[in-house]
Amino acid sequence: MKTNEPDLRVRLGPLELKNPVMTASGTFGYGEEYAPLVELNRLGAIVVKGLSLKPMAGNPPPRIVETPAGMLNAIGLANVGLEVFLKDKLPSLRRLDTKIIVNIYGHHMDEYGDLAAGLKGVEGVDALEVNISCPNVECGGMAFGIDPEISAKVTERILRSTDKPVIVKLSPNVTDIRAIARAVEGAGAHALSLINTLTGMAIDIESRRPKLANVSGGLSGPAIRPVALHMVYQVARTVKIPVIGIGGIMDYRDALEFFIAGATAVQVGTANFVNPRATLDILDGIKEFCRKKGIQDVKELIGSLKSDR
Ligand SMILES: Cc1cc2nc3c(=O)[nH]c(=O)nc-3n(C[C@H](O)[C@H](O)[C@H](O)COP(=O)(O)O)c2cc1C
Repeated sequence: MKTNEPDLRVRLGPLELKNPVMTASGTFGYGEEYAPLVELNRLGAIVVKGLSLKPMAGNPPPRIVETPAGMLNAIGLANVGLEVFLKDKLPSLRRLDTKIIVNIYGHHMDEYGDLAAGLKGVEGVDALEVNISCPNVECGGMAFGIDPEISAKVTERILRSTDKPVIVKLSPNVTDIRAIARAVEGAGAHALSLINTLTGMAIDIESRRPKLANVSGGLSGPAIRPVALHMVYQVARTVKIPVIGIGGIMDYRDALEFFIAGATAVQVGTANFVNPRATLDILDGIKEFCRKKGIQDVKELIGSLKSDR
């Protein structure tokens, strides 16, 4: 039977979302901060701020600077740590009628494993998203995510310690993102999300000081969208597992580009700072687009790019 309502459900391995619009880690706190403005239950999923085993204070300020068509951040993954997350943040998230995805990171292999183990069997955590863009203290501070073998090892370590679906979030600061994607898929990841921020910097010409106390930071927002879109396109053609598109998605048209390029779902980050209701506006826009075009199922759009190459 045909209805006017398009089917927006998508599947990320074992995880089914009621729609493909998620929040991006670090841009939506623990959800509660947005609750007065956003009907959280309408979201496909909430990805919470990056969580570490122990609380982290992050970098000294200034930690954020605006750039042309984007922003640089060097928050330094400040967060409350596992214990406080479980005690103070998760209980209210658990009551929501949306999927809760916990973004995790570590400074060495065992930290990732211990964190995954600490979340094992925990009710209300629907999946893990693994940030592999962090410096690896065992490898002189080189990010885990720039080496295929290390990326695969982190993935395996986490999969051994968890009963949750595992999404690995890829760094764009690499030579060929497809090599990392293949390695992580081979290690057993259920889905991939990309991209994390691109490394950049900005300088105050009067003081000749870096605008971020940390000198460099992560670039996000519309400035990175074409890079993100191309990487999603490349990776979606390389792996069989679902790909989540992230990077400069400001409105529903941007989101549609990512679906057509091959993304199964999208995450909205920097846009939340400009318009706190960006996620829901994007969701409504996708629904309306499907209705207008007679698209019964949003999955019809995934990888539907028409190209002669
Ligand atoms: C202020 C800020 C904090 C972020 N914190 C995290 C984080 O904790 N973990 C993570 O994996 N990504 C983090 N990110 C990256 C975003 O989740 C996203 O991958 C990136 O910003 C690109 O999407 P956007 O252009 O829509 O913002 C952060 C981004 C920003 C702007």
